[in-house]
Amino acid sequence: MATGDVLEPEQPAQGWHAASWRQRPAGQQPLWPDDEALKRVEAQLAGLPPMVFAGEARRLTASLAAVSSGKAFLLQAGDCAESFGEFSADSIRDKLKVILQMAVALTYAAGVPVVKVGRIAGQFAKPRSSDTEEIGGVRLDAFRGHMVNDEAFDPEARRPDPERLITAYHQSVSTLNLLRAFTKGGFADLSQVHAWNQEFVLSSSEGRRYETVAGEIDRALRFMAACGIDLGAEDGLHQVDFWTSHEALILPYEEALTRQDSLTGDWVDCSAHMLWVGERTRQLDGAHVEFLSGVINPLGAKLGPSATPDDVVALCARLDPDRTPGRLTLITRFGAGRVEELLPPLLDAVRAEGHPVVWQCDPMHGNTFTSDGGRKTRRFDDILAELRSFFAVHRGAGTWPGGVHVELTGDNVTECLGGAEEIFEDDLDQRYTTTCDPRLNARQSLDLAFRIAELLRA
Ligand code: PEP
Ligand code: CO
Repeated sequence: MATGDVLEPEQPAQGWHAASWRQRPAGQQPLWPDDEALKRVEAQLAGLPPMVFAGEARRLTASLAAVSSGKAFLLQAGDCAESFGEFSADSIRDKLKVILQMAVALTYAAGVPVVKVGRIAGQFAKPRSSDTEEIGGVRLDAFRGHMVNDEAFDPEARRPDPERLITAYHQSVSTLNLLRAFTKGGFADLSQVHAWNQEFVLSSSEGRRYETVAGEIDRALRFMAACGIDLGAEDGLHQVDFWTSHEALILPYEEALTRQDSLTGDWVDCSAHMLWVGERTRQLDGAHVEFLSGVINPLGAKLGPSATPDDVVALCARLDPDRTPGRLTLITRFGAGRVEELLPPLLDAVRAEGHPVVWQCDPMHGNTFTSDGGRKTRRFDDILAELRSFFAVHRGAGTWPGGVHVELTGDNVTECLGGAEEIFEDDLDQRYTTTCDPRLNARQSLDLAFRIAELLRA
């Protein structure tokens, strides 16, 4: 991979093209053992059909533009890392179901549309803090997500295999196909999603807190029906738009799926509707920012505690030079105790530069720690605390707390601590199945959604 000539960070590469990232240093790339095999896979991917098309990316940008001006709210959620092993219609359905349930509670509370984006159908690659992992004196390549290698601690499993890019493509295609069927074919019907929420409210202690909200939604639905609106026939109540997203990490994959829109000449990364750049790869002069700067998809950028106002303004200049509403979502992930100190200067700096960004809170990645038993985990209360501070700081600054970004699953896992059903450290081993970071289970996710609903209404 050519990473020789490094250009000035503030300027786009001379004439952006889908491969111009290759002239920049690319962090977090696997050392593919066989260059020729990688090239063959790239050529194969380049000949496969796109997963999304330009008009969809533009439509999502328009929806996010409404978020940037306070007229909508963004819910982005899904696995930390999708898995080749846990791939089934049921798990896709259950994840979609919990996200739709959360969205109904948020829509009602916010009184504005909720833009629903999954970390799904392509979220297969992980940045790692160390290139290698050592256990008992044995050192192997780090696990980088199923798009690259396997998590088993075994030299063969950890060897990066480009054929996995093809498997990731096909799994993404069938996941997206099912999502499209579910969201347009009746599964997302508002009355049905509301009925699931009522089940949650009535069947659990944490749910009972939300009886009032659920009751209000119920009355709103009955009011509409009484007015003669056929709830089952109205497309707006029967179908939803559900968008896909992932971290654009493995750049040969993203490049191969980048296509030119024949109508406008725009370049679109057709691997997903929305792409984001991670906390570890957002360097201004780096390959990831270069690549994303040239595609028209709406973008996200993760911002950790080290992000200074100058960094963020420069990143906005690279990724949103035209100040396009909805183009850029800034995803802060500071950790519960740090939001009050770190967020206000960023809000001021970005506002002064006039970038119409979406501000989104990722309350997960700044709150991860290892339990005494050696499990990576997060406390429900820390997640909630970061969200509370995010809403409070935005209220104080007069900016719109535009959205949340969470890692969750529809399964009944025991990966995050707390929540009303009180998962303790001793419980973590019971159902800890994540391929990477700890996820909220379905009940914790709904509990969180109703709490965010309270914050939105406060
Ligand atoms: C992630 O979203 O899974 C992730 C790795 O996040 P970050 O880049 O914020 O650490
Ligand atoms: Co994660």
